Amino acid sequence: CGIVGYIGNKNTQSVLVEGLKKLEYRGYDSAGIAVYTHKGLEVVKAQGRIVNLEAKLEHDPLVGSSGIGHTRWATHGKPSDANSHPHTDESQKFSVVHNGIVENYLDLKDELISQGHTFTSETDTEIIAHLISREYEGDIVIAVQKAITHMRGAFALGVLAENEPEKLVAVRQASPLIIGIGEGENFIGSDIPAILQYTRNVYILNDGEMAVLTQDSVELMTIEGNFISREMIHVDWDAVTAEKGGFEHFMLKEIHEQPKAYRDTMRGRIDATGKRVILPELKLTHEQILNIRNIQIVACGTAYHAGLVGRNVIEQLVRIPVETDVASEYRYRSPIVTPETLVIVVSQSGETADTLAALREAKANGAHVLAITNVVGSSIARDADDVIATLAGPEIAVASTKAYTSQLIAFYLFGLYLAEVRGTQTPEAVTEIIQAMQELPEQLEGMLENSDSIKAYAEQIAHHEHLFFIGRGVDFAVAQEGSLKLKEISYIHSEAYPAGELKHGTLALIEEGIPVIALVTQESVYEKTVSNIKEVNARGADIMAITYEDHVSTLLKSVDQVFAIPKTLPLLTPALSVVPLQLLAYYASLARGNDVDKPRNLAKSVTVE
Ligand code: G6P
Repeated sequence: CGIVGYIGNKNTQSVLVEGLKKLEYRGYDSAGIAVYTHKGLEVVKAQGRIVNLEAKLEHDPLVGSSGIGHTRWATHGKPSDANSHPHTDESQKFSVVHNGIVENYLDLKDELISQGHTFTSETDTEIIAHLISREYEGDIVIAVQKAITHMRGAFALGVLAENEPEKLVAVRQASPLIIGIGEGENFIGSDIPAILQYTRNVYILNDGEMAVLTQDSVELMTIEGNFISREMIHVDWDAVTAEKGGFEHFMLKEIHEQPKAYRDTMRGRIDATGKRVILPELKLTHEQILNIRNIQIVACGTAYHAGLVGRNVIEQLVRIPVETDVASEYRYRSPIVTPETLVIVVSQSGETADTLAALREAKANGAHVLAITNVVGSSIARDADDVIATLAGPEIAVASTKAYTSQLIAFYLFGLYLAEVRGTQTPEAVTEIIQAMQELPEQLEGMLENSDSIKAYAEQIAHHEHLFFIGRGVDFAVAQEGSLKLKEISYIHSEAYPAGELKHGTLALIEEGIPVIALVTQESVYEKTVSNIKEVNARGADIMAITYEDHVSTLLKSVDQVFAIPKTLPLLTPALSVVPLQLLAYYASLARGNDVDKPRNLAKSVTVE
């Protein structure tokens, strides 16, 4: 989601709408604004793209000198007018825009209902407006501070109170928020593009900080109310770079957003003890889970590759037979589906025609269908019996990165959930996996900081026309994704092979100097894969291995280069090992002068069969 806020003498409505347009890449399920007008706080919102909001405002403009706006990417509650922001309390005296997730919103909602509050939406945001209203005793800053003490999760807020229209309150708690400084006017925004056409002077809020804006002043403080000072930053990016968060391409930005996507997808789905996965959104009952006889994972493209990892995860954790199929094959092969079949469809966009058709086919045959998708209001999310939302945020680059890795996180969570219900893992084993999962974001951050060698390697392979990826187990699944990534944006022909299968034909293609990328992270087959590496080494291949730090020195005897990844559990390695392959594809594409974000012949969302 994206939020924006304004206080000053310009046309508030148009500042907000222009700001939202710049934030539309963060979500476009619905948009809305609240402005303090001569009638008090007035709200206009519309489902769909910002043009729909503009159309409404054309008839009924909001005139005033303070306002907040929001463009939504649905997380809690489907896209609808009622679920659009801004949200207000019953008295309509407080208006809130919110980006992020309030983890304990259901508990807070119950509490507020028992105190006589009634709600009109399914969102976690409406709770915030009610909490602020409950805490209000004449000072909006104190009311917001008190309300926050009850909220857990990640959020950025913009708040307006009808009784104090000269103030705009902003809060940042683990969701981005910046303050734009003007002359006789001030701004808030989820990011810099939202305000760049008005000012280049900004304060970046840190987690746990808030700001109180008036037309002529900005006060910064911690959420406990201690005043702080901050250096103002002057932004000299152009508008296009700003939209990409300072990165050259959306793909690179999205690769760097993965640690956040991991945290967001896990947030609220691991209980406070860190020992159990909780998926309160699921309708699937324990009884249904106990009755599952087989699982079919169906998807296209990169989502299919996430499904290949998902198969390994579920089979190993839960010992239920799993097949993973590409949707266009599945739907025409008369799949054997019974009421004891769980079908998992995976789709970033939730609109892929083949995946949607496969979902309908499975449902018609009586299967329970769970969708793992990044778009909560999508066709696939609506048609499925159950949805696990990946909270990666909008993905713009055609080559999928953060959506894929968030799908992996969803599979880990769901696999652990099944394992608990079916009792297939000890509580200790579950805790160990959860702990290792929680370390992934930080491990990934470290890897992203030290990725120069991948860039150099990409430049080295960029002039080749053929390349191979090999691996075993989940390494093979990741190899397939690495190969697709490289093909789709660098246009280098590549193939992914199970390391042990190479000698049955494909080895004939290995000749002097051909690049081979070997994934070697699975301890149980380490020696076997090393033997395969020696086979290609003997034929003159130029090998780069992705492995753990402790294997680097021994592997360097058989390979030319190594990229080390941090140690994690074998099942979790894909969440780390795919990242150098994403970067490899990115830099190879760049070196070849291609349009990284919009590769030839491809589309982000394929809604035709
Ligand atoms: C298109 C995109 C791929 C994507 C596939 C499935 O082909 O170019 O990047 O993996 O569709 O998309 P979905 O939205 O269903 O995950």
